[in-house]
Amino acid sequence: MSHAIEVRDLHYRYPDGTQALDGIDFHLDAGECVALLGANGSGKTTFVLHLNGLLEGEGFIEVCGIPVRKDTLGQVRAKVGLVFQDSDEQLFMPSVLEDVAFGPINLGLTPQQAAERAKVMLAQVGMTGALHKAPYHLSAGEKRRVAIAGVLAMQPEILVLDEPTTYLDPPAQRALAQLLSNLPQAKILVTHDVQFARTLARRAIFFDKGRVVGEGSVDEIIQRFDWLPHFPR
Ligand SMILES: Nc1ncnc2c1ncn2[C@@H]1O[C@H](COP(=O)(O)OP(=O)(O)O)[C@@H](O)[C@H]1O
Ligand SMILES: [Mg+2]
Repeated sequence: MSHAIEVRDLHYRYPDGTQALDGIDFHLDAGECVALLGANGSGKTTFVLHLNGLLEGEGFIEVCGIPVRKDTLGQVRAKVGLVFQDSDEQLFMPSVLEDVAFGPINLGLTPQQAAERAKVMLAQVGMTGALHKAPYHLSAGEKRRVAIAGVLAMQPEILVLDEPTTYLDPPAQRALAQLLSNLPQAKILVTHDVQFARTLARRAIFFDKGRVVGEGSVDEIIQRFDWLPHFPR
């Protein structure tokens, strides 16, 4: 089976000289959900920003068989939906409905078609009641749901979520896990939340200093790297 994502020997250095990725090999199968674990600063966010071309390192990246290059970014971004850690970076339109319709309008849908699609996606994430609210008036959990609806409205094949449970209270975390488990897309979850990872991901990989140093089930990885949630990290 061809991989939904394949990455080989990816390196990335920030302009200030920080070597954030130091030879990453990674693959994601169609429909699979993988958790990315690892300490703060180990390169997880830097890695996922490469998957739809927001950063460009050295190495090989292919998404649904399409090499990620400047001239393929449009195609790649239609396949990979990235939900940022900070929803405030993702939501920028005056209303929830306009925010979720923005992507589909860019895909070429008419405003009416885009609004219809946005309403379907907002219903899917349980945010129908907020169509005309300003995103900045929403709670963190609500913002996260709207950001996910905006990404789903692009009908991606792969969802990448960077620390999606941050700022969510336990009921909102459970609701998010429930929502994600019902979505058919392949998923990459960057998370410090072991319970969340366990619920959703069969496979976990562990980042350390810009490298993938372990792979296994979530429980194997947290044992092997002593990655237990005794302390807030
Ligand atoms: N814009 C940036 N400029 C310079 N260094 C950065 C930048 N963003 C992240 N880094 C550094 O790159 C490394 C990896 O960071 P990051 O990918 O954010 O890790 P994680 O998401 O695992 O916490 C860290 O050393 C971090 O300080
Ligand atoms: Mg990060």
